[in-house]
Amino acid sequence: MIKKNAGFTVFALLVLFLFAGCSSTSQSEEGDEKDEQPILVQGPMPIEAEEFAERLDDVEEETSGNFVFYKGTVDDYPVIVAKTGKGMENTAAATTLAIEKYDPKAIINQGTSGGHDPDLNVYDIVLGERTTNIGALKTGDRDKGEGIEATEWIPMDLMASEGSAGEDPDAENIRYYKGDQQLLEAAQAVKDTHEDGKVVEGTIGSADLWNNEVDRIEWFHEKYETSVEEMEGAAGAQMADAYDVPYLGIRILSNNKTNDGEYDPDTAQSNQAYVYEVVKEYISTQAE
Ligand code: 5AD
Repeated sequence: MIKKNAGFTVFALLVLFLFAGCSSTSQSEEGDEKDEQPILVQGPMPIEAEEFAERLDDVEEETSGNFVFYKGTVDDYPVIVAKTGKGMENTAAATTLAIEKYDPKAIINQGTSGGHDPDLNVYDIVLGERTTNIGALKTGDRDKGEGIEATEWIPMDLMASEGSAGEDPDAENIRYYKGDQQLLEAAQAVKDTHEDGKVVEGTIGSADLWNNEVDRIEWFHEKYETSVEEMEGAAGAQMADAYDVPYLGIRILSNNKTNDGEYDPDTAQSNQAYVYEVVKEYISTQAE
């Protein structure tokens, strides 16, 4: 009798283990689906983020500080649109917060920009093969009464070392953040969908600054090889680099002082329509 009971207990335990094994497998499969890393699409102003957010399915809105995150899906893949606010500080904070909160697979920072290259027109799009901070500068050494010579200012790389950037000769360089190759390939693959202008690879320059002096714009274009300027890309790129997250800037020209290209805010939604195609293409390559 005792023997029979022991046999039953062993059998029951075996069934239990098997059952537990099965249910834990299906749980982790469900978990994997839920835990799929989202693609993060950033836009600074409402006109640069909300149109994309409206394209998402099953959207949930989450707010943190000044930042709004629209969490949804594109083709059943998780995509988060972040309305970051304008400028370097907002962008750095919103990027870091999103990386810590959502662990994105990739980040696309997109929006409008001002042309530095006279060959680029309003509605053309620049894919950020490189992004650089054009506001990190060291002035020349001038005594009282010797004036201000902005063209003599030199680039300052704040990430060159942990020491003083003012004294370190290694910090007198331009730091470029490279756009992620896979994101660039996805963007190239769908460039014909943008019919309002051309799509080119180039250099995006960022600072909390709007340059209206054409000579100064030319100075950046020659010294930094900038195609466009805006106020966010390099801040996002620096944070993405710190956390090793693939990153790409995609900027449409809304204005270009170098060829009298008048400001057109409708460019913001044209860019979002293109970036939507880029995201779909990137998602399809993830499935392969
Ligand atoms: N200079 C700087 N930022 C510009 N933007 C558009 N054009 C320019 C320009 N010529 C973008 C910035 C910022 C907002 C003012 O528009 O990225 O978010």
